[in-house]
Amino acid sequence: MKRYRMGVIGAGNMGMAIAAGAVRAGLCPADGVLLFNRTPEKRAARAAQGFAVTDDYTGLYAACDTVLLAVKPQNFDEVLGALRAVRTQPKPVVISIAAGVPFARIEAALGADCPIIRVMPNTPLVLGKGASALVRNGAATEEQLAAVRNLFDQMGVTAVFEQEDMLNEIIPYNGSAPAYVYAFADAMVQSATAHGVPADDALRLFCQTCIGACALLLQSGKSAETLTREVCSPGGTTIEAVNVLKSRDFAGILAEASDKCIARAYELGR
Ligand SMILES: NC(=O)c1ccc[n+]([C@@H]2O[C@H](COP(=O)([O-])OP(=O)(O)OC[C@H]3O[C@@H](n4cnc5c(N)ncnc54)[C@H](OP(=O)(O)O)[C@@H]3O)[C@@H](O)[C@H]2O)c1
Repeated sequence: MKRYRMGVIGAGNMGMAIAAGAVRAGLCPADGVLLFNRTPEKRAARAAQGFAVTDDYTGLYAACDTVLLAVKPQNFDEVLGALRAVRTQPKPVVISIAAGVPFARIEAALGADCPIIRVMPNTPLVLGKGASALVRNGAATEEQLAAVRNLFDQMGVTAVFEQEDMLNEIIPYNGSAPAYVYAFADAMVQSATAHGVPADDALRLFCQTCIGACALLLQSGKSAETLTREVCSPGGTTIEAVNVLKSRDFAGILAEASDKCIARAYELGR
């Protein structure tokens, strides 16, 4: 079998977004990416896009320099169980994006000498606007980490952490955060329609406000507190809204949601 730069086991939403991002950024040609899919229809569709395809992920593991594991955490044991039997040297660099699955579980199957980079990405990565957190295991070198970071930098921003646990602790703030934002947008649009604002106008104006307000927060050098004060003139309209958010413990609700989210990541890892 020829050698491939990258292989993807779990070529679903995230797996395909990362494979397509690598090709778009010119890091490898489409036929240098080998995708595993279980169904012939999906394999045919991916092959039509120029990717190499296979129905054998143990062969993929042996044939690729880098292997992306992008199956759901619930399917990890099955995949790792099959990869355990593959003898290949040198071992590929393994990237795992599964929420909560720790190095120890992957190393137990692939060996502690297998370089592994765990990444917590998020779905805006499909537009090249992702936010990904990375951590390496003991066998992965700084160079291997830098190469994987470069891959995810092509699809948004990245942060590297030393401690593996940080990949669980970060989930509410990047991996799961899009769902918080959509819940916020939905609630704002519902409120707007109750006041007679057409839903599509409310959504467009609110989303652009989120984009603009976040850009201001990142680029102005001012804190969220200062920027909030600048919108809240005394006796004005915004302070009325902010007072309700405070009295209903908006921050406490978000903290509780994030605690649950993180606890579930640890649970999935056990
Ligand atoms: N979605 C997010 O927001 C997000 C954020 C951060 C991290 N993640 C992580 O990304 C990973 C993938 O999520 P996703 O949303 O991309 O899921 P997805 O679209 O459902 O993709 C999962 C893929 O895994 C394949 N698969 C399932 N069982 C398999 C098995 N037993 N053997 C081999 N392949 C199997 C499926 O193959 P078929 O196509 O053949 O069914 C599918 O292509 C998860 O581990 C998740 O924790 C997701």
